[in-house]
Amino acid sequence: MSLLARLIAAIAVWKRVVRHRHDDTGLPEPEADPREREIQADRRAETLVALLLFAAAACAIAFIVFYVVDDDTQLLGLAAGLALALIAAALMVAGLRVVPQVTEVEPRPELDDRVEQEEVVDEVRRGGEGVSRRKLLFAAGGAAGAAVAAAAVVPAASLGPRVDHRPGESPWRRGTRLMTEDGVRLRAADVTPGAFVTAFPEGADMRELGSPVILVRLPVADLRLPAARARWAPEGILAYSKICTHSGCAIALFRSPKYEPTSRPPGLVCPCHYSTFDPAAAAKVVFGPAGRPLPQLPLEIDAEGVLRASGPMSGPVGPAWWGVAEA
Ligand code: FES
Repeated sequence: MSLLARLIAAIAVWKRVVRHRHDDTGLPEPEADPREREIQADRRAETLVALLLFAAAACAIAFIVFYVVDDDTQLLGLAAGLALALIAAALMVAGLRVVPQVTEVEPRPELDDRVEQEEVVDEVRRGGEGVSRRKLLFAAGGAAGAAVAAAAVVPAASLGPRVDHRPGESPWRRGTRLMTEDGVRLRAADVTPGAFVTAFPEGADMRELGSPVILVRLPVADLRLPAARARWAPEGILAYSKICTHSGCAIALFRSPKYEPTSRPPGLVCPCHYSTFDPAAAAKVVFGPAGRPLPQLPLEIDAEGVLRASGPMSGPVGPAWWGVAEA
């Protein structure tokens, strides 16, 4: 046997002897403690967490201020993003350096034992050990939470009124005079056959969607209005909302026949998708995607020959889907 072979054999025998001796002690193999608990009060870390939380609160408040005084979305995004990032940083620092560091490696069975439950409750309670500036941290956390919550709620102020009410409203009332875009009162004589006139309610906001109406004059004999509207078109002058009931475009075209035997009948046409309304028949839809007629404004002519509304619009102004919020 060579010298090397003898050496290897000797090492193997020695290992076996050592293992045998160890088994003889009857003691279990030492194991690493699966739970490590490190408690230390780190005042600098607590101060840092508090500062981060107060900074997050300041950013959230800045978001609210920007929202009220400025509509720069980049500033808003920067403030909101910084607030959230600072809160995240505060939580990271708190998790690493403020609260006790505990490592749990043992799977925990269901706690049906009262004693075990109390142990867990006690352990959770001890989670606050090692934190010396609790009031400061609570104040900072409360400030950050309240400011971020306020920043999240403030944009709701921009939601405004429910769309199902406002767009459909109209400023037209009984007795309201009709006027031109320039503020000149409209007289019946201003609406000649073939003319297409846009009018607004006197004294009201012309920009309101319920304001603009279109006026056309047709032969009285050609009108096919419902019986209830028989007096709504004095001298054959008809007024309808200028807002298309399909998607809200402005009715901008009037198809007025040039030669009765061959021309198509009069029509109010929306240039967006070519919905066409019959002005003689209460603006019934005769072509296109609109789902309902244009609301009609009842008219009367006063002693001075000026056109006035004799009542409100016959229905809500604008597309039917403007009212879906109510459904
Ligand atoms: S908006 Fe008038 S037809 Fe579409």
